[in-house]
Amino acid sequence: MISLRALLAERVTQAFEQVGLAGAPPVIQLAAKPEFGDYQANGVMGAAKRLGENPRAVAQRVVEALDLSDIASDVSIAGPGFINVTFAPTFLAARLAKDISLSVSAPKRVVVDYSSPNLAKEMHVGHLRSTIIGDAVARVLEALGHTVIRQNHVGDWGTQFGMLLCYVEETGAGDNASPLADLEDFYRAAKKRFDEDADFAERARQRVVELQGGEAEARLQWQRFIDISLAHCQAVYDRLGVKLDREDVHAESAYNDELDNTLTLLQEAGVLTESDGAQCVFLDEFKGKDGTPLPVIVQKSDGGYLYATTDLAAVRYRQDTLKADRVLVFTDTRQALHFKQVFAVARAAGFADESISLEHMPFGAMLGADGKPFKTRSGGVIRLAALLDEAVERASALVLAKNPEITAAEQSSIAEAVGIGAIKYADLSKNRTSDYVFDWDQMLSFDGNTAPYLQYAYARIRSLFRRSEAKGLVASDQSQLDAPSERLLALALLRFPEVVEQVGADASPHHLCGYLFELAQRFTSFYEACPVLTADTPEQASSRLALCARTANTLASGLDLLGIDVIERM
Ligand code: ARG
Repeated sequence: MISLRALLAERVTQAFEQVGLAGAPPVIQLAAKPEFGDYQANGVMGAAKRLGENPRAVAQRVVEALDLSDIASDVSIAGPGFINVTFAPTFLAARLAKDISLSVSAPKRVVVDYSSPNLAKEMHVGHLRSTIIGDAVARVLEALGHTVIRQNHVGDWGTQFGMLLCYVEETGAGDNASPLADLEDFYRAAKKRFDEDADFAERARQRVVELQGGEAEARLQWQRFIDISLAHCQAVYDRLGVKLDREDVHAESAYNDELDNTLTLLQEAGVLTESDGAQCVFLDEFKGKDGTPLPVIVQKSDGGYLYATTDLAAVRYRQDTLKADRVLVFTDTRQALHFKQVFAVARAAGFADESISLEHMPFGAMLGADGKPFKTRSGGVIRLAALLDEAVERASALVLAKNPEITAAEQSSIAEAVGIGAIKYADLSKNRTSDYVFDWDQMLSFDGNTAPYLQYAYARIRSLFRRSEAKGLVASDQSQLDAPSERLLALALLRFPEVVEQVGADASPHHLCGYLFELAQRFTSFYEACPVLTADTPEQASSRLALCARTANTLASGLDLLGIDVIERM
């Protein structure tokens, strides 16, 4: 079903055309204040200016041409030419009685490149944002009807593997799986060796070359590391409820056989230049401060390929093989220039045509309370698995404090949902591109824009249903929207599809979080003003129960799009 905003846009556009303002489509916004109605149409002022006419007079003509009698209870002109629209309760009620399913007019094939950790180490907090945000956006796009192709572009091909291979060979760890059980410790020991012994370091570099050349023993050992490493990742994904599995892994190494060809194609496209022995692409749009052109290096002087070369091969694969219309890559902002360059080179070389949209979706850093990158007390990286354990432990204590009667089994399942949900939501609810401070107390609070608050709001409605059922009350098919708080709640419920659409368009889950928080607040206001169990009549109770049911469903659907579980009782 078309969203309220889109419906209004259609009608106002028609009116614009009727009064001769074609080619200047109106912009429909949510009203910033209740006195501006529900939605506000903007665009008259610009049009009037172009015509050299008085904006209010133009707005007057638009309103006269605008027939909203079937949907609005009030249309008025405000300020220098805004058109305020207030929807009629009967119209909102009828719409709400229908199913508001999510859909898009033009489904696309969308590649979502997310999580993508560098292997050989366990996942740490630095991988959290890409994993969580990418997963939420992938879920949203899928729910809207797009075909989503998840790509976990793991780093499995760098120098670190030469180092690990040499260390395995030296310590004999390869014959015995146990030293590899703690990958993190093993990595640290190998790194120490690498940093302290130049001979070792040289052998490690040599070993990577052999690995990349396909030497059998190296490949075998490497595969073991990859398997152990991916198993660690999978445990984290499963615990986080992230929809990634082995099939979604399309690693850097998968492009190995395409790298020579990528270079040849760049050569043929005429964009390759040799500079200091390295193969580079110079594009006009990338210049240093002093105006000297900046190279995008695609092959080092020793013949080695780079991160950018792999990403260029990935662009081709995604366009030609995966047939993507749109590619979204989630990494932190530090890689912004890298992707700008890769995408520009891909366009210049004809790897990507106009039909494909290549979008880097950067995100800010996760900071500790001191405002510095989030680390352990001793300054080490925080393993994700340990962070998730701590979240669940903290949530478990809170859950027990809130409900001392709870059984141990219930406590642990609720704590899992609340703890994991809190971490995910704290991340998703922040503007993607900003840095944010990781704060246990804030994210686990039952007040404010948090997962526990929303999970609790949902559980309360479910509990209301258990009590109303006991009284023999059932929800009606359609609600009477008599009270102002009922109308406002209905309006919020109907807004769900347009919010989800926006999240799909700009990969910004925080809009959905803000929306769910507002919805829960509107529900609270409604519930305070409009009692359900003690309503005046059974009909009134049923009408209100319908609003409750719709609110619970919307909260659950919204949280599910964010990858967060709801709880039936808390
Ligand atoms: N492995 C990279 C890192 O940890 C992220 C990869 C992102 N995706 C890509 N196509 N480059 O920084």
